[in-house]
Amino acid sequence: MESQLKQLQIEALEKIEKAADLKVLNEIRIAYLGKKGPITEVLRGMGKLSAEERPKMGALGNDVRSAITEKLAEKQKVLEEAAVAKQLAAETIDVTLPGRPIRVGNHHPLTKTVEEIEDLFIGMGYTVAEGPEVEQDYYNFEALNLPKDHPARDMQDSFYITEEMLLRTQTSPVQVRTMEKYNGKGPVKIICPGKVYRRDHDDATHSHQFMQIEGLAVAENITMADLKGTLEVFAKKMFGENREIRLRPSFFPFTEPSVEMDISCMICEGEGCNVCKQTGWIEILGAGMVHPNVLKMSGFDPEKYTGFAFGMGAERIAMLKYGVDDIRHFYTNDVRFLKQFGLHE
Ligand code: PHE
Repeated sequence: MESQLKQLQIEALEKIEKAADLKVLNEIRIAYLGKKGPITEVLRGMGKLSAEERPKMGALGNDVRSAITEKLAEKQKVLEEAAVAKQLAAETIDVTLPGRPIRVGNHHPLTKTVEEIEDLFIGMGYTVAEGPEVEQDYYNFEALNLPKDHPARDMQDSFYITEEMLLRTQTSPVQVRTMEKYNGKGPVKIICPGKVYRRDHDDATHSHQFMQIEGLAVAENITMADLKGTLEVFAKKMFGENREIRLRPSFFPFTEPSVEMDISCMICEGEGCNVCKQTGWIEILGAGMVHPNVLKMSGFDPEKYTGFAFGMGAERIAMLKYGVDDIRHFYTNDVRFLKQFGLHE
């Protein structure tokens, strides 16, 4: 019996040692230690032993059981650790691999241009004002000194929705709307960016929808010198300190006198090139002293208040600043174009 038990122990320990996984190990456990296992079977024969032999064999049986149990526990630990190690190896992350690029968007070049201009004027004490794109004829034309039959309405071919409503052709109606809110009391200093619409044929320099930026300053004792000084600061900040400006007489129904402003060409420094059409000057905006009729219609006393206004196309400014040769690039949303204006890539 003794040798049988010892043989069983050797056998069991060998099998445990060889067990390849936890499932096999469990099978061994059941086979050897279970109630129907060979050890129980052997010990059943104890009844035939002498009184001295019996406790010895009992003790040996227990030793064999605990040796097997111990070995099982040991092997279980080894196999469990191996399983964890295997899983870890399978889930390893190679931190040296380059990451997937996260694409960062950027502001549209027109947004950048408008915000730059806004910031510049905010720095000079202006606030940003906005108004509706579907506008009343009254605000778009009449209150700007353009009565119904005024020939200058032809300068801005319009999209009418009804007799009295249209898509605004300019941001100048925001001047009138804002002045009305001030109830005849200055000073008013606003900058108004926004979309405007005209019935133009689209080409490299025209678009039926574009952005305008309008400025207005109304207070006591505002003169044309204030307008000129303001525009000069704008031109230098936007296009470089070397810029010179020149004002040419022009006509707008809502300003008197009216001017157009040119800046010295920043491409050729005034020498003459394609961009300035060999003149050395580039036209960038219209401006003038607010017409007394406009002040009056907006509730301001023209005897007490004067003011200046200016308006420019954001696309034109952006095209000159960034060297863009076709206005349609701003609207076709080709990422190859747009991403040139970001900080990334
Ligand atoms: N609104 C004018 C235009 O669209 C520009 C302008 C604004 C001129 C303000 C003078 C003063 O042509």
